[in-house]
Amino acid sequence: MKLTVNHLAKQFTLHNRDGITVTGFSDVSFTVADGELLALTGPSGTGKSSILKAIYRTYLSSSGTIHLHRKDGSIVDLTTCCENSILELRKKEIGFVTQFLKILPRITALQSVASPLIERGEYEKNARETASQLLDSLNIREELFHLSPLTFSGGEQQRINIARGVIAPRDLLLLDEPTASLDEDSSNRVLDLLLELKEKGIAMIGIFHDKRKTERVADKVYTINREI
Ligand SMILES: Nc1ncnc2c1ncn2[C@@H]1O[C@H](COP(=O)(O)OP(=O)(O)O)[C@@H](O)[C@H]1O
Ligand SMILES: [Mg+2]
Repeated sequence: MKLTVNHLAKQFTLHNRDGITVTGFSDVSFTVADGELLALTGPSGTGKSSILKAIYRTYLSSSGTIHLHRKDGSIVDLTTCCENSILELRKKEIGFVTQFLKILPRITALQSVASPLIERGEYEKNARETASQLLDSLNIREELFHLSPLTFSGGEQQRINIARGVIAPRDLLLLDEPTASLDEDSSNRVLDLLLELKEKGIAMIGIFHDKRKTERVADKVYTINREI
């Protein structure tokens, strides 16, 4: 097992609105194994993105546990472990491909994609070579490699973001609508990439915006229903 989520819940307290509480999600339980992709599905506003943020600890959970089973055999509860451990885990063990690319000025697409590999100790030349191949496999034209993604289309930016997220894959990868603004061909290339990551044993939790895409990559589905 890679991740065990048990009775996880999140309420948002709106301090600027007299402390009104809003339910993010409640009573969420699932497991994800190495090499397995779990898809979260359900109507908009049922807490799918918030669950990923709770696992990445962008959001603190209100109750429940998230146990990460590490390679060395130890188990950490991501709801309660200290901030330093979270920062360490984000560097090496948990990756998050969000919907939008954070663009740093003056950094080219190629540099941006190569940098996670360089940070991991790969030679710069090799990292750039791997990044080029990855961008090529995602249908990014070579003439864009040496430009800043600032002026790229939404779909191109999204693919740069995905390439950055998967080039040096963490053991657990969270994906929030990675194919949302992509055309059919680019979407399929991203899904192929996720299938390759599964082969490498990466555990993934993904939100996909349509059923066909979900069925193509997911080993199992966790559906959240709106509470009545
Ligand atoms: N930072 C936040 N503050 C207050 N409410 C939030 C916050 N983030 C999400 N929510 C609320 O939590 C619920 C679930 O949102 P979200 O996780 O984005 O759903 P989904 O990804 O399934 O569309 C929504 O009602 C949303 O308004
Ligand atoms: Mg969402």
